[in-house]
Order: sequence, then C-alpha cells, then structure tokens
Amino acid sequence: MSPFGCSGLLVAVLALLCCPGSGEETFEVRMWPERLVVEPRGSWEVNCSTSCTQPEMGGLETTLTKTLLDSQPQWKRYLISNVSEDTDLQCYFLCAGKHQSKHLSIIVYQPPEQVVLKLQPTWVAVGNSFTIECRVPAVEPLESLTLILLHGNKTLHNQTFEGRAAVPQEATATLSSTAHLEDRKHNFSCLAQLDLRSRGGGVFHWVSEPQMLEIYEPMPDNQMVIIITVVSVLLFLFVTSVLLCFVFGQHWRQRRTGTYGVRAAWRRLPRAFRAQ
Ligand SMILES: *[C@@H]1O[C@H](CO)[C@@H](O)[C@H](O)[C@H]1NC(C)=O
Ligand SMILES: *[C@@H]1O[C@H](CO)[C@@H](O)[C@H](O)[C@H]1NC(C)=O
Ligand SMILES: *[C@@H]1O[C@H](CO)[C@@H](O)[C@H](O)[C@H]1NC(C)=O
Ligand SMILES: *[C@@H]1O[C@H](CO)[C@@H](O)[C@H](O)[C@H]1NC(C)=O
Ligand SMILES: *[C@@H]1O[C@H](CO)[C@@H](O)[C@H](O)[C@H]1NC(C)=O
Repeated sequence: MSPFGCSGLLVAVLALLCCPGSGEETFEVRMWPERLVVEPRGSWEVNCSTSCTQPEMGGLETTLTKTLLDSQPQWKRYLISNVSEDTDLQCYFLCAGKHQSKHLSIIVYQPPEQVVLKLQPTWVAVGNSFTIECRVPAVEPLESLTLILLHGNKTLHNQTFEGRAAVPQEATATLSSTAHLEDRKHNFSCLAQLDLRSRGGGVFHWVSEPQMLEIYEPMPDNQMVIIITVVSVLLFLFVTSVLLCFVFGQHWRQRRTGTYGVRAAWRRLPRAFRAQ
C-alpha cells in the first residue's frame, strides 16, 4: 500500500468515527447578531441561517412580534419589534431529520432621563457637615449601574446596586461630608455609568449639572462672645437711659403742674380767655 493510500484510509476511518452518516448531519445554525442591547420598544433585524444546504424547515421562536423580511433556503431574515424586556430568541433548523438551534439574548436597558445632584445645605460653614445626593429617576438594569460622586475630577464615592427589578427603578447615592474651605475650588457632580459589557453591550455615561457649595468661615467663638456682650451692654444702656428720661420727664412735669392736671386747669379758665 502506498503512503498516500494509507493516509487516505486513515482520513476515511476518522471521518467515519467522528461523523457517522452524511456530512449534512453536522450542520450548523447561526444567529446574527449574537447579542442585542437595545432600548425599550425598539425594532431590530436578525438573520437566522444554517450551513445545511437543504434544510427541511427552519425559523425563529420568540414571543416577540416578528416579521419575515426575506428568506432563502439557508437563511431567514426577520424584523423583531416592540422589545420590552430581556428575552431569548431561538433560531432553529431541521436538516436530515436532526434539529439544531442557536439563541440570541436581547438585553433591554433604560437610559436615565436625567441625573440630579443636590447639595444640602448649599451654604455651609467650614467644619459643618453637608450631604451630597445623586438621584437617577428610572434606569435599567440596576445591577449594571454605578453612581459616582465627584468633586472636581476626584472620586468621592462609588455606589453600585444589587438585584433586578421588573420595572425601571430610581437609584440614589448619598454621602455626608464635612466642609473645608478648599472645597470651594471645585464643583460637585455625579456620574451615572451603565456598564453592559458583561452582557455584550457597551458602557454608557451620563453626568449631572455641576453644583457649587458655598462655604463661609464662621467667626471664632470668643470674638462672637465679645460682640454679643458689647451689643447687650449698649442695648441695656440705651433702654435704661430711655426709661430714666421718661421717669424724670414725668416727675418734672408733675412738679410744674402741681397735683392737678393741665386739662382741669384749662377747663377752669374763663371761656373768654380760652377763645383768645
Ligand atoms: C444571513 O446570513 C447568512 C449566513 O451568514 C448570509 O449568507 C446571508 O447573506 C444573510 N442574509 C442577509 C439578508 O443578510
Ligand atoms: C408593545 O408591548 C407593550 C407591552 O409589552 C404593549 O402594551 C404594547 O401594546 C405593544 N405595542 C405594540 C405596537 O405592539
Ligand atoms: C484632576 O485635575 C487636576 C487639575 O484640575 C489635574 O492636575 C489632575 O491630573 C487631574 N487628575 C485626574 C485623575 O484626572
Ligand atoms: C469608582 O469607579 C471608577 C470607575 O468605575 C474607578 O475609576 C474608581 O477608582 C472607583 N473609585 C472608588 C473609590 O471605588
Ligand atoms: C462650577 O459650575 C458653574 C456652573 O454651574 C460654573 O459657572 C463654574 O465656573 C464652575 N466652577 C468651577 C470651579 O469649576
């Protein structure tokens, strides 16, 4: 036997061992794209295909609304619409009595409409505390979200979220901090990051409006005490002098008019004098 014939036999034996029957039975099913990361209520085209040259049947299994756009024996192109939640599509083909399928996962994400940053209070004395709160009204999926509180370009706090919810949920991150004079140099902001990479998507970013914290220096305590004391003493002196003036004024008038009143004396005056 020639070496060529020997290797030819080997190939035939191997082919028989690994793939008994005809080549059609090892057909492949493909789905394009392999993953979809979409916003709710979107429409997408998918292509379901096979390597089998003469499939007996094939198609797409889904609970979503599907429309067959175009088809050839080896592929079918569909439009799927109104995707509202994460789902799997199955593309299947039947070839020489064998069934094969491939699935496509659809990941639905809801981008946040806005990222709201709030400082409370917005006016604070050095050394006093204030809170930074970042709120994202509705976002999905929550477990892919990170809220990052920033001061200038410095990260103050990273917050991640657990669990899946059926509906888009509000997410908040809060941090309490102490005001320093140099905090005035930079604005505070909040970065919302939706990382869908582990599920085949990309990374999305949204950032809040920058917020400035008004910081003032409180007066030292002893200086405050001195000011309060001086003001109190001045106020006391003023009130006392007004009272003394009033009392002495009354006393002096009574001495001048005697024990009877001015009105009584006036009434006793003859009418002729009064008319003058
Ligand atoms: C669908 O996919 C198959 C296999 O990849 C390809 O041959 C075919 O052209 C595709 N159809 C469309 C409409 O893109
Ligand atoms: C889209 O899906 C939602 C909920 O799944 C449904 O209420 C709505 O009627 C659907 N819209 C269309 C045009 O099919
Ligand atoms: C942050 O900004 C300062 C200047 O504003 C710059 O010197 C520094 O390199 C920046 N750091 C980062 C991590 O971007
Ligand atoms: C917060 O996350 C960002 C990016 O996701 C990272 O660069 C940073 O180091 C993290 N900071 C902290 C304090 O975990
Ligand atoms: C802070 O943000 C305001 C706008 O909100 C801007 O006018 C100001 O220049 C910013 N300050 C710094 C230090 O970046």
